[in-house]
Amino acid sequence: MSRVTQGVERPDPVKLTIDGETMSAHPGETVAAAMLMAQKLRFRDDRAGTPRGMFCNMGTCSECMVWLARETGWRRVRACLTQIEAGMVVATREPGADHG
Ligand code: FES
Repeated sequence: MSRVTQGVERPDPVKLTIDGETMSAHPGETVAAAMLMAQKLRFRDDRAGTPRGMFCNMGTCSECMVWLARETGWRRVRACLTQIEAGMVVATREPGADHG
């Protein structure tokens, strides 16, 4: 994966954490874009434990659901619709759940 560079101006990158790994992304990009740039293709697991990845990239299929830490606790969001914010913490598996 690579970013388009010609004719594009982006704000300075910010740090975020995905599954405990700190990475950089540009504000305005989505969590999905940051994950793809980091070669993270597994966005969640289905009930059978099968890894699932992004599919529609437009908020329709819900295949990209990830966990996002908020002040009020963890919340599920669509990675393809969620814009990067400095310091955000994302998890691809439910935090605190038994993933045995
Ligand atoms: S990839 Fe389909 S809702 Fe995000």
